[in-house]
Amino acid sequence: MKQRGAILWLTGLSGAGKTTIAQNVAQELQKRNYPTELLDGDIVRTHLSQGLGFSKQDRDINMRRIGFVANLLSRNGIIVIAAVISPYRQVREELKQTTTNFIEIYVRASLAVCESRDVKGLYAKARTGEIKNFTGISDPYEEPTNPEIICQTDQFTVEECVSQILHYLETQGF
Ligand SMILES: Nc1ncnc2c1ncn2[C@@H]1O[C@H](COP(=O)(O)OP(=O)(O)OP(=O)(O)O)[C@@H](O)[C@H]1O
Ligand SMILES: [Mg+2]
Repeated sequence: MKQRGAILWLTGLSGAGKTTIAQNVAQELQKRNYPTELLDGDIVRTHLSQGLGFSKQDRDINMRRIGFVANLLSRNGIIVIAAVISPYRQVREELKQTTTNFIEIYVRASLAVCESRDVKGLYAKARTGEIKNFTGISDPYEEPTNPEIICQTDQFTVEECVSQILHYLETQGF
């Protein structure tokens, strides 16, 4: 039987843990010989979405482009892991409706925790105004209303969050 594809769409604030979890889930799936592709927001913005900024319009275009590519892969049996802030609910909902096996994963941590992690030093720059349109500080983040999975990264370890996702896939028959 052909392997079933899926789109694991990791959404959440900067520093919530999307990239960390995505890389670990990809590694675990690859160990189990599942065809897997990672689409990380930071990497996508250097080619597929090069030139796009952080206005609502550009963020929506970015999400739709990633969704389009993810769907091409997913419908061909690949498990796609997309790690993108994707702050706007409407486009996430649209992708859920128009793509194959879209699984919304809310990678969640309080703004205070994300800011204290400040992995890339961006929150500090957002606070001084050096960076504009920063999600959670000077730009909105619309929480998922009905995500398939919530990874609460300020309460659970990376390993626990990864297991949670793998367990979900198992129960869904992947
Ligand atoms: N349970 C957890 N899951 C994921 N990351 C965690 C967890 N607990 C702590 N962390 C830490 O939180 C940080 C998350 O950073 P990461 O780059 O993955 O965030 P991100 O959501 O990809 O941010 P950005 O949107 O800026 O790319 C890492 O330093 C990671 O080690
Ligand atoms: Mg990231």
